[in-house]
Amino acid sequence: MIIAIDGPAAAGKGTLARRIAEAYGYHHLDTGLTYRATAKALLDAGLPLDDETIAGGMARKVDLAGLDRTVLSLHEIGEAASKIAVMPAVRRALVDAQRRFAQKKPGAVLDGRDIGTVVCPDAPVKLYVTASAEVRAKRRYEEIVEAGGRADYGAIFEDVKRRDERDMGRTDSPLKPAEDAYLLDTSEMSIEAAFQTAKSIIDAALSRNA
Ligand code: DC
Repeated sequence: MIIAIDGPAAAGKGTLARRIAEAYGYHHLDTGLTYRATAKALLDAGLPLDDETIAGGMARKVDLAGLDRTVLSLHEIGEAASKIAVMPAVRRALVDAQRRFAQKKPGAVLDGRDIGTVVCPDAPVKLYVTASAEVRAKRRYEEIVEAGGRADYGAIFEDVKRRDERDMGRTDSPLKPAEDAYLLDTSEMSIEAAFQTAKSIIDAALSRNA
């Protein structure tokens, strides 16, 4: 079973993906971390972020087993990741690795921007998780404040919009719902409600495949 979850930054797809993987005993891959790990490796090595050959070579070396969410969640790494994610050589390398991951038994949940459209177009379950830019910025703001940090809502809101433009506007694999994806708008929905909706879609797909 392959479950493809796509959507813009901070829409809640990561939380939903982890919850689904846990409930069904499936493997989970946050594909954003693969772009982040590539960007971090380039930054650490003092290599440029605008050379496609170098970035593509680095993407081939990313180890999916060693992705550390805490280290990779830094804002600067997200910005750098979004820049190298426009490069076809980087995407080809990471998509190959993601497709291999998707074959894991008994099932895999992959979340990102192009899972249902490019990485696993034949996935039996495709969810497109979204929420308004205001709600997504507010969630990110609350996350930072609850963790004891200081945050500026206006700056976060601008950042969310800028990231959307970059992710949706690129020519290679732009963020968009697959034609057969189920749209889940979480603007006014709790994570529990989103999970219950996802669960009924997954259970229906499992009984079709049985
Ligand atoms: O979801 P995230 O913030 O960790 O993603 C970081 C960047 O990686 C994001 O700007 C877009 C890119 N990305 C992508 O292009 N394709 C994916 N499947 C996942 C992430």
